[in-house]
Amino acid sequence: MSKNFYLTTPLYYVNDEPHIGHAYTTVLADVIARYHRLFGETVHLLTGTDEHGQKVADASAKLGRTPLEHCDITSQRFVNVWEKLGVEYNDFIRTTEPRHTTLVAEILTRLNDKGDIYKQEYEGWYSVFEERFFTEKDLVDGMDPIGGRPVEKIKETNYFFKMSNYQEWLIDHYENHPDAVLPGFRLNEVLGFLRQPLGDLCISRPKSRLSWGIPIPWDEDYVTYVWFDALLNYYTATVHPPEGIAPKWPADFHLIGKDILTTHAVYWPIMLHAAGLEPPKHILAHGWWMAKDAAKMSKSRGNVVKPLDLADIYGPDSFRYYLMRDMVLGQDANFSEEMVVKRLNSDLANDLGNLLNRVTKLLTQHFDGVVPEVEWSDEDSLIELANQTAPKVHNLVEDLQIHSAIEETLQFVRATNRVIANDAPWTTIKSDKEAAGKALAKAAEAVRLATVLLYPVMPVKCSEILSRLGIGDIEVTDWEVTNWGDRLAGKTVTHGDPLFPRYKPPVTEDAPAKPKQDKKAKKEDSGMITFDQFKELDLRTAVVVAAEEVEKSDKLLKLQIDLGTESRQLVAGVKQFFKPEELIGKTVIVVANLKPAKIFGIESQGMMLAVRHGDSLTYLTPAGGDVPPGMRVS
Ligand code: MSP
Repeated sequence: MSKNFYLTTPLYYVNDEPHIGHAYTTVLADVIARYHRLFGETVHLLTGTDEHGQKVADASAKLGRTPLEHCDITSQRFVNVWEKLGVEYNDFIRTTEPRHTTLVAEILTRLNDKGDIYKQEYEGWYSVFEERFFTEKDLVDGMDPIGGRPVEKIKETNYFFKMSNYQEWLIDHYENHPDAVLPGFRLNEVLGFLRQPLGDLCISRPKSRLSWGIPIPWDEDYVTYVWFDALLNYYTATVHPPEGIAPKWPADFHLIGKDILTTHAVYWPIMLHAAGLEPPKHILAHGWWMAKDAAKMSKSRGNVVKPLDLADIYGPDSFRYYLMRDMVLGQDANFSEEMVVKRLNSDLANDLGNLLNRVTKLLTQHFDGVVPEVEWSDEDSLIELANQTAPKVHNLVEDLQIHSAIEETLQFVRATNRVIANDAPWTTIKSDKEAAGKALAKAAEAVRLATVLLYPVMPVKCSEILSRLGIGDIEVTDWEVTNWGDRLAGKTVTHGDPLFPRYKPPVTEDAPAKPKQDKKAKKEDSGMITFDQFKELDLRTAVVVAAEEVEKSDKLLKLQIDLGTESRQLVAGVKQFFKPEELIGKTVIVVANLKPAKIFGIESQGMMLAVRHGDSLTYLTPAGGDVPPGMRVS
C-alpha cells in the first residue's frame, strides 16, 4: 500500500492581496507534494483562506458588501493565483464553510465540557490590526510589538483556554520529538518561549465589538478568536474532506513562515492535545523573502512583489524555479528580479533548454526523429552519474533540501552538456552514424531523467519536454534509473521553438540600458564613494546570544547572533581581546549583507564591526538607549 502524506499551507488572510510570501509557501507545498507523488505516495495538499475577524468586517462594510460576499470575491483571488502558478491542491478550505464552523463549535464544546475553558474579566492592550491583546510589558514604546501600531486599553470579560495546564506536556513532547519543529534552531526558539510561564489564551471576542466570527456555542454574546478558529482547519479537512481520499490526522507537515511559529508550535499542539488529538508530526518554518535592501516587504513600503506580475513576465514555471532554487529552506533570502532573469537565462535556457534543442534537432535531422536502440555498457560515466543523481535527489527532497535537489539535477544536466560536447555527434554523424546515434540517445535519456526530477518544480514545462521526447504521462518509477534508455528507445521526438527563450529586458526611453561602469575611472575619481554605494551596506544591530572559541585558532571566536528576524553565525577575529562570555548578551553592529564565507571551515554569515586602537579592540555598539536587534544603522 502506498504511503499517505498530508501537508498543509497556512490559510491566508482574505484581506491581503496574494503576494510573494503566500506564493512561496504554496509553491513550496506544491513542489514537496509533487515530489512525494512522484515517489509513489498518496498525497493530500490542503490550502485555503482565513476569513473571520474585524479587518474583514471593516473592509466589507466600506465596500457595501456583506462579509461573506466580500470573502467570496477575495478568496477567489487566491484560487486564481494558484491556478496560474500551477498549484495542484486536493482541498481548498475556507474558514466560513459550514464543515469548518460546525467542527470549531464541536471542539469548543468538547474543551468546555472538560473544564479547559473559563470566563474572566481581563484588562489588556488591544491591537485592532493584530486582533489580539498584548500585556503592558509586551508593548514597545507604547505600540504593538509586531507592527508598531497603536493599541488601546480594553477591559472586558472573555473566555480563556487553559493553555498553561499543558505547558509541561508540550516541553516533554518536543524533547521526545526533536524533529517536530524544523529547522532545529526554530525548535530551540519554541523551547525558549516555553521556558517562560505560559499564560492562558483568550479565545473569544464580545460580539458587541466584533461580530464576524464563529459564535461561541454556549454563549451568543461572543465569537471565537480568529486564530483558534483558523488553526482547526487542518483537522476539519480530515473530518469533512472533499470527495476522494481523505487525509489522515495527524498531518505530516504544516508549512508555515517563521512569523507564525508560536501559534502553530505552541497553541495548536496544545489545543489538539486538550481535545484528545495527536499533535502534527512536523511543523516546518521557512524564512522570509526580503526586499533587496534586506527590508521586510510591506504594502506601506511599496516593495511587495506580486507573484502574478512575475509569472506573467517570466512564465509561471521559471518563477517557481527561482523561488525554489534561491531560498535555502529555513533561512531568509533577498528577492531579486535580476536573479529571476539570471536563473532563467543560465540554468533553464542555457543548460537545460539548449541541451534539449540540440538533441531533438539532430535526431530529427539525421534519424527521422527516432531515438535509436542502443546496447549500453555499465561503465559509462554519465550513466553512473545518473545512477547516483536520482537517489541523491530523492534523499535531498526527503530532507527538504529542495534547493540542493534542484542544483544536483542541474549538475547532471551540465555534465550531460559536457559529454555531448565531447562526443560531438554533429561531427561524427558524417563518419560514424552509429556513434552519433548512441551519443544522442544517451543525451536524450539524460534529459528525460533530469526532466522527471525537475517535474515537481516546473510541471508545465517539464510535461512539454517529455512530450517532445515522445513520452506522455510520467510513471511513478520514472525517477529511478532502471533500464537506462528503455523508455525512449524507438520513440519519436519532435523539435520545436526553444521552451525557455532567453529573457532580454526591454530597453525603454524611461529606463535606458545602464552604461557600463568604468571601474578604473571610478577609482581615479577621488577614492570617494557615493551615498548610493554606502547605502548598499546593510549595517544592523545584533545581540550576541552565544560565543565559543574556535579550536586550534589563536584569533577566532564563533558567535551566534540574534538579528531580530533571524539567527546567524559569525566568525570574528577577536579571540585575543575578548573571552567568549564577555560578548554574550552584548549588542554589536554587524554587516548583515556580506556574502557568507567559510573561515577555518566554519560558515560566517556577516561581519562584526570593531575599532582597533593600539593593543586593544572595542566593538561598535549603540551608545545609550535600549536598541533592539535587527535595527538598521544609517
Ligand atoms: N491567516 C494566518 C495563518 C493562519 S494558518 C491557520 C496568516 N495569514 S497570512 O496571509 O498573513 O499569510 C501568512 C503566510 O505568508 C505566512 O506563512 C507568512 O510567513 C508568509 N509570508 C508573508 N510574507 C512573507 C515573505 N515576505 N516571505 C515569505 N513568506 C512570508 O498568517
